[in-house]
Amino acid sequence: MDIEQIKKILVVGSGTMGHGIAEVFALSGYEVYLSDISQDIVNSGMQKIKWSLEKFHEKGRLKENVDHIMARIKPIVGLSEQVKDVDFAIEAAVERLDLKRQIFQSLDQTLKEEAILATNTSSLPITLIARSTKREDKVIGMHFFNPPVLMSLVEVMKGEKTTDQTAKIVYELAKRIGKQPVMINKDVPGYLVNRLLFGIFNGSCIIVEKGLASFTEVDAAARYKLGFPMGVFELMDYTGIDVVYLINEGWKQLGIELPGCSLIDEKFKMKEFGVKSGKGFYAYPSPGKYSKPDIPIELKDKVDPSLIIAGAVNEAARLLRNGVSSKEDIDLSVELGLGLPKGILRYADEIGIDNVVNAISKLKLESNNEFYNVDALLMQMMGSNKLGVKTGEGFYIYNKVEEKKYKNVLLRIEPPLAWIILDRPEMLNAITQELVEEVNKALDELETDNRVRTLILTGNGRSFSAGADIASFLNLKPIDIIRYRTLRELVSKISLYTKPILAAINGYALGGGLELAMACDIRIASETAQLGQPEINIGIIPGAGGTQRLPKLVGKGKAKMLIYTGEIISAKQAYEIGLVDLVVPPEKFEEEVKRVATKIAEKSPSSLIAAKLAIEMGNETNIWDGMLIEGALFGLLLTTNDVKEGIKAFLEKRKPKFVGE
Ligand code: COA
Repeated sequence: MDIEQIKKILVVGSGTMGHGIAEVFALSGYEVYLSDISQDIVNSGMQKIKWSLEKFHEKGRLKENVDHIMARIKPIVGLSEQVKDVDFAIEAAVERLDLKRQIFQSLDQTLKEEAILATNTSSLPITLIARSTKREDKVIGMHFFNPPVLMSLVEVMKGEKTTDQTAKIVYELAKRIGKQPVMINKDVPGYLVNRLLFGIFNGSCIIVEKGLASFTEVDAAARYKLGFPMGVFELMDYTGIDVVYLINEGWKQLGIELPGCSLIDEKFKMKEFGVKSGKGFYAYPSPGKYSKPDIPIELKDKVDPSLIIAGAVNEAARLLRNGVSSKEDIDLSVELGLGLPKGILRYADEIGIDNVVNAISKLKLESNNEFYNVDALLMQMMGSNKLGVKTGEGFYIYNKVEEKKYKNVLLRIEPPLAWIILDRPEMLNAITQELVEEVNKALDELETDNRVRTLILTGNGRSFSAGADIASFLNLKPIDIIRYRTLRELVSKISLYTKPILAAINGYALGGGLELAMACDIRIASETAQLGQPEINIGIIPGAGGTQRLPKLVGKGKAKMLIYTGEIISAKQAYEIGLVDLVVPPEKFEEEVKRVATKIAEKSPSSLIAAKLAIEMGNETNIWDGMLIEGALFGLLLTTNDVKEGIKAFLEKRKPKFVGE
């Protein structure tokens, strides 16, 4: 059998998953039999498919009409002679081993010898299901996510006797129906996604059970620090606490060493199943109606986020070490199956393997469960100093941070970010002609460096920049201000530079320092920063756009107040008048600047240039010309590959990978 020979598909079970899987195959042009135990049940499955196809049709997302696609699906009751020539069957019945074994026995007896038999089980061993057939080499796990038509991930898992050839065909088949498969080489109940998810669930339970934090605090850290789309307990509510409970119980029976969770057991006993019953860890408006629970952002620092992911990282390391799957597939499964912004191994590399190991050890100490014995692979990584991003290698290899020292400026390239650090700390980074030239050089160098997507301008020491070097004024003639590559020219260059530049205002931003910061796209200030235009105190006025940009940011009155009085204001005051865009406590400053910069760096470079030019140039003209600029740039973007990728990723519910073309 090879992939080209697969033409007819049989889906056994027309429930939530079964009908969705049948729809996916039919959408890709396959002939499908949809089978269930009664006509009523299978009819209901067919109706759901029709409803879903009509929705796609309304949204203009179908290439054929609904009836054509429906005509490819034949509803049948039980397994009749009709299906004996199908090439590929997938079972999507309820999660009971005895039932699945019975179905596979019938499939084995009814279907032709070469046919591949797949199960959509989410938690049962493939090997045990396969043993009920005489073709164990052709039995495989093919796990779709709900709803199959929208979720792009498919986990392909081999049983003990499944051949590589069978696995290859099913992997390819998943691709042909437009899915992103991940390959699991060994039979591990729960596949990748559920195993890793339960690592996260259980670690979070331990944190709460042992009184280290409340469940809302765990969820705040998950949402706001790890960037999860939902809090951990919120996700349990959403999934259904009964489902979580039953999977946990099922695994216990299979002898999988996962620590239990008394919080889930209690909720299960009280029938507080989450969204479906209107109450779980959180309360919902009515049974079945989800609304985002209130998880205050202020609680985000109450728990160390590495504790939340530690169990999953340990499990992922175990899977990797045992050759169950590749690191790329492990991470892909987490991104696509759980909607996390990055893979679990990437998280580990960023948090630091040493920190993750400490967190696993803490969970072990608290739970005394073997699940939290630190995996040998993590220990080995610790021994060879592969601690993640900070040492240049962890599960992945990272570009080493490159540093280049000019006389007054330090350039740090840390793709996709680059830092231009004003480096005259003893003079509070006062700006000289030489410093201006060096910043210019750094900007020129970074403009063509495709690894770099966002720039950060900051200062070394306790100051961003205390302004133009006052001493140098004494040697300047009026004409010099016009003639040389001055600060005035530099701020214009920054404001029209083709990559976003953030000003990370770490301390004083005074005079020319503030003018530099105002030319940047976004200003993030440390709580300790102080800002002002004190030129008036020495008998001059701002000379690099201060009289122009400041009124535009804060209004004429407030600008005059600052420029006429020369007064210095705090970061908080600056935020209140709109002079800075974000204020962050000093201990979180670098982390937060990087977070914002990295988020921007993930976007399409072409969209970012277009947005910047539309805002910068459009806002300096009248609204009609401004909108024309906006429209022209919008139109141009439609011709880029990035927009195609953005739309494709949206439809496939994954993160886009923009390249700037
Ligand atoms: N030009 C030249 N040198 C400057 C400078 C500037 N704009 N800003 C600070 N420095 C120098 C100081 O002269 C001092 O040098 P020194 O150690 O050789 O005396 C050094 O940087 C440290 O500054 P200092 O004044 O000792 O620190 P502080 O914490 O007491 O005060 C400021 C900090 C920012 C309030 C103060 O330095 C200041 O007012 N600077 C000038 C700000 C200004 O007017 N900028 C606009 C210029 S047009």
